[in-house]
Amino acid sequence: MSLAGKRVAITGAFGSLGTAVVQAALAAGAKVAAIDRADAARDPASLGAAHAIGGVDLADTAQAKAAIDQAAQALGGLDALVNIAGTFRFETLADGSPDTWDFLYRVNLRTAVAASKAALAHLPDGGRIVNIGAASALKAGAGVGAYTASKSGVMRFTESLAEELKPRGITVNAVLPSIIDTAPNRKDMPKADFAKWVKPAQLADVIVFLLSDQSAPVTGALIPVVGRV
Ligand SMILES: NC(=O)c1ccc[n+]([C@@H]2O[C@H](COP(=O)([O-])OP(=O)(O)OC[C@H]3O[C@@H](n4cnc5c(N)ncnc54)[C@H](OP(=O)(O)O)[C@@H]3O)[C@@H](O)[C@H]2O)c1
Repeated sequence: MSLAGKRVAITGAFGSLGTAVVQAALAAGAKVAAIDRADAARDPASLGAAHAIGGVDLADTAQAKAAIDQAAQALGGLDALVNIAGTFRFETLADGSPDTWDFLYRVNLRTAVAASKAALAHLPDGGRIVNIGAASALKAGAGVGAYTASKSGVMRFTESLAEELKPRGITVNAVLPSIIDTAPNRKDMPKADFAKWVKPAQLADVIVFLLSDQSAPVTGALIPVVGRV
């Protein structure tokens, strides 16, 4: 799948999935801007030739706009945005706080909304937006109410923006991972069967497809990418 000539901004790009998507997009021939809240990637070499933009809170609309504008300037324009910035909390209502609902809404949904709004000023007709939902948000379990509500928001945002942008041929899709095979997940669940978890590189390949010309007829799709979980 080729992304030759495509200019792609990726948020949450210094994290586990973000780094894999940066690498896959570069390997497919894209020019990449890697945006994150951390000041710098833990391993800058992992971002290859990507233009790194650190220290950005994407939930802040002014910071999101400045970062996306900087990405577009560095890449000579912008064809696509991948909204990966996000996080997870496990917390029951009895032991938790309503503040966690605000926090996860801000980190998981508001970041994608603010970055997408900023990107709209740059994306050409036929552009691409890819979001990260969660398979667990299809039916919540105990302790994940705040997380799945925020990711349900990402999924409804994906559907709504896909409809809004159909006239321009800009596609908006989301992948819904289950448990990704990351170092933090292995540490948190040492007895799990890691072989069943989807690898970051596998998810990245699906995202590269959604960024490619070949995915043009696909929009508003919420695609479970769950490995064997
Ligand atoms: N890991 C899983 O099993 C799993 C499963 C389903 C869905 N997901 C989703 O997949 C995405 C990536 O997960 P991951 O495991 O790669 O997480 P990760 O390693 O923690 O990477 C997420 C990155 O997003 C950054 N970020 C967080 N808030 C931000 C903000 N306000 N502005 C800018 N950057 C921000 C984080 O920076 P800081 O480190 O500074 O916070 C981090 O570098 C997330 O949306 C997550 O919810 C993950």
